[in-house]
Amino acid sequence: MYIWWSFVMVLGITLLYPSGGQGAEAVKLPPPVKTGGMPLAEALEVRRTVRRFASRPLDLAQVSQILWGADGTTDPRGLRTSPSAGATFPLDLYLVVGERGVKDLSAGIYHYRVEAHALTPVAPGDARAAVARASLHQSWMAEAPVMVVITGEYRRCTARYGERGVRYTHMEVGNVSQNLFLAAEALGLGAGIVGAFEDKALAQAAKLPPAHEPLLVMPVGYKP
Ligand SMILES: Cc1cc2nc3c(=O)[nH]c(=O)nc-3n(C[C@H](O)[C@H](O)[C@H](O)COP(=O)(O)O)c2cc1C
Repeated sequence: MYIWWSFVMVLGITLLYPSGGQGAEAVKLPPPVKTGGMPLAEALEVRRTVRRFASRPLDLAQVSQILWGADGTTDPRGLRTSPSAGATFPLDLYLVVGERGVKDLSAGIYHYRVEAHALTPVAPGDARAAVARASLHQSWMAEAPVMVVITGEYRRCTARYGERGVRYTHMEVGNVSQNLFLAAEALGLGAGIVGAFEDKALAQAAKLPPAHEPLLVMPVGYKP
């Protein structure tokens, strides 16, 4: 009975989400645009925490620009748009994609693989409502076509700096989140920022691995 049930579950997931699930193929993101665009001062001037979004999908180029802007690679040595204490890079970015949230990308949770500038599918399905519930029922979050969950794996930093590595990890979330804000504004989009959530509920909703502590959620989309 158990074997039959497992078979039905696996078949169902495969049919519903052919490119998703563990071991599924990564989605290569288009290269980020590194010239032109909105002047930095203008992006700084217009940046606001956005809590209302139009129901208009993003495209992969915008996703690429946002993730690269937040914490993408800028140097063959692996250095990034955001600084990191001792280049230990304790943070990870997960993209929660809503139903019809991004053209050419199924609803689901994806892990941003920085070096490859690619998304690895983690789990299928629209998890935005669950993430918003875990965030003390901030239902406005679920209107955004995508959310970026920033997580920290403390041991990458504490292995070198001891307890102080926890502080450094938290500081780094500030760097990444401000980069993401500015990258979104430069594209004519808006981002929110959410630190009020139940850690365990959010980790469950975003299907995070146990060592990746959720530290911040940033909904992103078009302003209404
Ligand atoms: C660490 C942090 C956590 C925050 N958490 C939330 C949150 O859970 N919900 C929310 O609506 N805004 C949240 N905010 C947004 C602040 O309320 C907002 O930044 C502040 O009101 C200033 O507005 P501005 O970002 O538009 O300049 C958070 C901001 C920061 C920096």
